[in-house]
Amino acid sequence: MRILIWGLGCPGLVSAACLAQMGHDVIGIDIDEAKVSAINSGHSPFREPGLTPLLEENVKRGRLRAITASRDCVQNADVSFISVGTPSASTGALDTSQVESVAETIASELRGTAHFHQVVLRSTVCPGFTREVLAPRLEKISGRRIGRDLALAVCPEFLREGNALDDFREAPFSALGTIESRSAEMFSELARSLPGEVVQMSAEEAEMLKLMNNSFHALKVGFANEMGRICAAGGVDPEKLMALLCRDTRLNISPAYLSPGFAFGGPCLPKDIAAITTHARSAGIKLPILESVLPSNEAHFDACVRAIRATGLRDVGILGLAFKSGSDDLRNSPSLRLAAHLHHEGFSVRAYNPDEEPGTLSESNRRVLERLLPHYDQILRPSLEAVLASSSLIIITQRRPELTLTPEMLKDYDVKVLDLIDPASTWATPSGDRACNRASTIEIRNSLAGA
Ligand SMILES: NC(=O)c1ccc[n+]([C@@H]2O[C@H](COP(=O)([O-])OP(=O)(O)OC[C@H]3O[C@@H](n4cnc5c(N)ncnc54)[C@H](O)[C@@H]3O)[C@@H](O)[C@H]2O)c1
Repeated sequence: MRILIWGLGCPGLVSAACLAQMGHDVIGIDIDEAKVSAINSGHSPFREPGLTPLLEENVKRGRLRAITASRDCVQNADVSFISVGTPSASTGALDTSQVESVAETIASELRGTAHFHQVVLRSTVCPGFTREVLAPRLEKISGRRIGRDLALAVCPEFLREGNALDDFREAPFSALGTIESRSAEMFSELARSLPGEVVQMSAEEAEMLKLMNNSFHALKVGFANEMGRICAAGGVDPEKLMALLCRDTRLNISPAYLSPGFAFGGPCLPKDIAAITTHARSAGIKLPILESVLPSNEAHFDACVRAIRATGLRDVGILGLAFKSGSDDLRNSPSLRLAAHLHHEGFSVRAYNPDEEPGTLSESNRRVLERLLPHYDQILRPSLEAVLASSSLIIITQRRPELTLTPEMLKDYDVKVLDLIDPASTWATPSGDRACNRASTIEIRNSLAGA
């Protein structure tokens, strides 16, 4: 394919070199003359292991060259990768002016021409930018329609400087986000040159995935450093412990604890987070990430309460009271706390606790119930059906086979379902028509009933 790469910083130039190496005809465009001339003489303008030999080879073979201005290039190319910078503006938002300026150049060069063109945004942007800013601008200036004679996708770059060639080639997948599903097919030829499996998604998902990845990386570094400080202050070897933490690929370096859902609780996590932060404070060590974990959990609990209030329904049924599925422990259970909170707010609350009959409560659970829900015998119902029959809103806080609601079960009851462990339905915001079929408001989605 004939590929233009706009912006020859690390991700742009590494993509250019790797795509040229695959046999594509690549032109890199950058306003920085020194960069362009270094590339054309086969040298990387910045330090990146392995890049100079790759540039040298592909420049020599005529598969890669760099230019400072794109005159008439677009109409002779199949694809434009936009890889220009999106630095922080003074507000903290991303400054997308370089991307917008390149998009305007591409669109004006396309105007009045007939050659089909694909635009791939590689720069990092916030969710909504491609659909709300980039697409309308490209269409307006080019006079073309995306999905008809112009294709647009967001394909974020995940590589790390210093490791960029290996990260590009060995990427586990490439995210291909589009603003409407037809466009994805238009990228089928290019997709064969993208590393890893190509995962199709909405433009917003691709944009968010990049920010989510970098947030996770930054959080990991911050967490490791906080652990390093507190370990070292206690005379404990942080490297050794972090290596052991990473060896646990069942609970630690794994998908465990990484499903968005309801708040956490139970007898250990809140207690031990409180313990380590209190211990650190007494030693004069600041752990801002760990200090924010319990407030974050509270903010999430409050958001769930607001979503329940927003339904306008006051007869609520809660299924499962233990602190998590697979346990009957009520200590610090967020579901039980939710029941108590709603009861105190004046909701009419019913709950079904499949783990224990009210008459056979363990001593520990009875004490917890008496403290949080003194009238629990009026709230607890003996069966799932009894809760369905007396509620207008069923609140799902945990995924358990014995509490799964099927359309068949729900058809005889006049209830809505608010699934707090399905963030896609609970937290969708009023941002209009999303390609990923999300609800447009916080809505009570009786998805389990197929309504
Ligand atoms: N640096 C990384 O490791 C990395 C990794 C993944 C994603 N990203 C993202 O990729 C994007 C680019 O990052 P970067 O680090 O290469 O930025 P950068 O600022 O280092 O490089 C951007 C390049 O674009 C050029 N440019 C600016 N305006 C131009 C125009 N109108 N036409 C042509 N070229 C133009 C600049 O001269 C510069 O060489 C950013 O959105 C960044 O967040 C960066």
